[in-house]
Amino acid sequence: MLIAQLTDTHVRLPGRLAYGVVDTGAYLERAAARLRALSPRPDVVLVTGDLTDFDKPEEYGRFRSLTAQLPMPIYPVPGNHDSSTGLRAAFPEIAARASGGPDSKVNYVVEEHAVRLVMLDSSVRGKPHGELGRRALAWLDGQLAVAPERPTLIALHHPPFLTGIRHMDVQNLADAAALEEVVAKHPQVLGLVCGHVHRAVTTSFAGRPATIGPAPAHAVSLALGPDAPPSFHMEPPAMSLHRFADGRLATHTSFIGPYDGPYPFFDAHNRLVGED
Ligand SMILES: [Fe+2]
Repeated sequence: MLIAQLTDTHVRLPGRLAYGVVDTGAYLERAAARLRALSPRPDVVLVTGDLTDFDKPEEYGRFRSLTAQLPMPIYPVPGNHDSSTGLRAAFPEIAARASGGPDSKVNYVVEEHAVRLVMLDSSVRGKPHGELGRRALAWLDGQLAVAPERPTLIALHHPPFLTGIRHMDVQNLADAAALEEVVAKHPQVLGLVCGHVHRAVTTSFAGRPATIGPAPAHAVSLALGPDAPPSFHMEPPAMSLHRFADGRLATHTSFIGPYDGPYPFFDAHNRLVGED
């Protein structure tokens, strides 16, 4: 199974630039084209939050129209720039998978693929930090308990770990320790995938791999100094591709080009190209 992870697209209305600089809609268009061109084709696309920049219905509408040509299902969760309510209204088919009413958190499980996907809503209305809450953690524990044999991937927006980028670390997942306790009980969890930090980061969490996916538009600056001011760079746009095989996940960073290539290593006589 091949799982694409797109995150932090921050879509705005046409003509509006994120932070006055970034044409995020155009970047999403390129990411969607890349997803369509990938071979083999990913089975699913996870969108780990911040689909929109300002949680406006029209921004969700634009996200949907820019991704409408994708042949694979899209499974989103809200980030701090979105809201549970906004995402439910824009994705009724996702709202139907989650329990609760129109303002409830969008926690849901996707059962129909080789890897069981547990999608967690870490958004807190009007706040930049994330929190799952006791009820959602109990729900997660129960969901993991009913399928102990099924390889499972957990996706959420806010990383439950520090990255060293201080202005982001102060707005990560508040109840990370409680989440780690739940995950530790369930060996079938292959790993966790997050967004929020707009750059590729890898660590471990409850003994499992935990990654932050890179962004298809602006990257949060790699500023590890204690007093570094919040800023972003226009680094190469990218997404994660998580390949599940032989019981393991291998996570690739897939840059969204165009880039030169492919160039062959070997010529028609199976000799290394350029060898003297
Ligand atoms: Fe973001």
